[in-house]
Amino acid sequence: MKVLVTKDYDELSKEAFKVMKDVLDANEAAVLGLATGSSPEGLYAEMVEDHKANGTSYKDVVTYNLDEYVGIDRNDPQSYYTFMNDHLFKHIDIDPDNTHVPYGDTAEDAKKYDDEVKGVDIQLLGIGRNGHIGFNEPGTPFDERTHIVELTESTRDANKRFFDNDINKVPTHAISQGIGTVMDAKKVLLIANGEDKADAIKAMIEGPLSIDCPASVLQNHPDCIVIIDEAAASKLSH
Ligand code: GLP
Repeated sequence: MKVLVTKDYDELSKEAFKVMKDVLDANEAAVLGLATGSSPEGLYAEMVEDHKANGTSYKDVVTYNLDEYVGIDRNDPQSYYTFMNDHLFKHIDIDPDNTHVPYGDTAEDAKKYDDEVKGVDIQLLGIGRNGHIGFNEPGTPFDERTHIVELTESTRDANKRFFDNDINKVPTHAISQGIGTVMDAKKVLLIANGEDKADAIKAMIEGPLSIDCPASVLQNHPDCIVIIDEAAASKLSH
């Protein structure tokens, strides 16, 4: 695991963009594993800006998103499908048919999506305050594939800011790529900023490999780069 600490979120987004751009430059038909949440917003803004300024093309790029809430409409303003369109897809020249965001609430829906996710060149990840990746909450087996997840109170609480600050409006379930699915990616890029991620980052990097911190599995990934700001790095021993 390679760790890069940046002074702030802006620098983090620029460094993450460099990693993403290397993958895009190496293969015009790159397969990107994408994530939602506040963490990647700056990176997506960099990708959009670069597309507009330098013409980097996504014509043949394919994307697979990590997760989606269960029980809200695809076009709901809070769906991850809407998030991806608003922050990235509608601003670049990607073919909508090449973009994939999981959807559904059954084991069959999850299996079907898992079968589609193939050959991911780079998987982008954020991290939850409890160390979750995608929506793989603590306790999820490391070899789990795409599945339906019951969200923890802590995750619903963290995400209520997108739902009128009302935890009762936050969906209780999600469909998420499993840790086994995520680990199949050739390269993983995890980004995190802010002090409320510092405990999860410490457990991921310095803690034991344990399902109590799902992100600790990345210690086993052959090509994982972690880019964090000083606040998220503040609890690391060195
Ligand atoms: C959600 C998403 C994760 C994301 C995490 C952190 O739970 N399912 O993929 O990494 O939140 O979100 P944020 O980047 O907003 O802190």
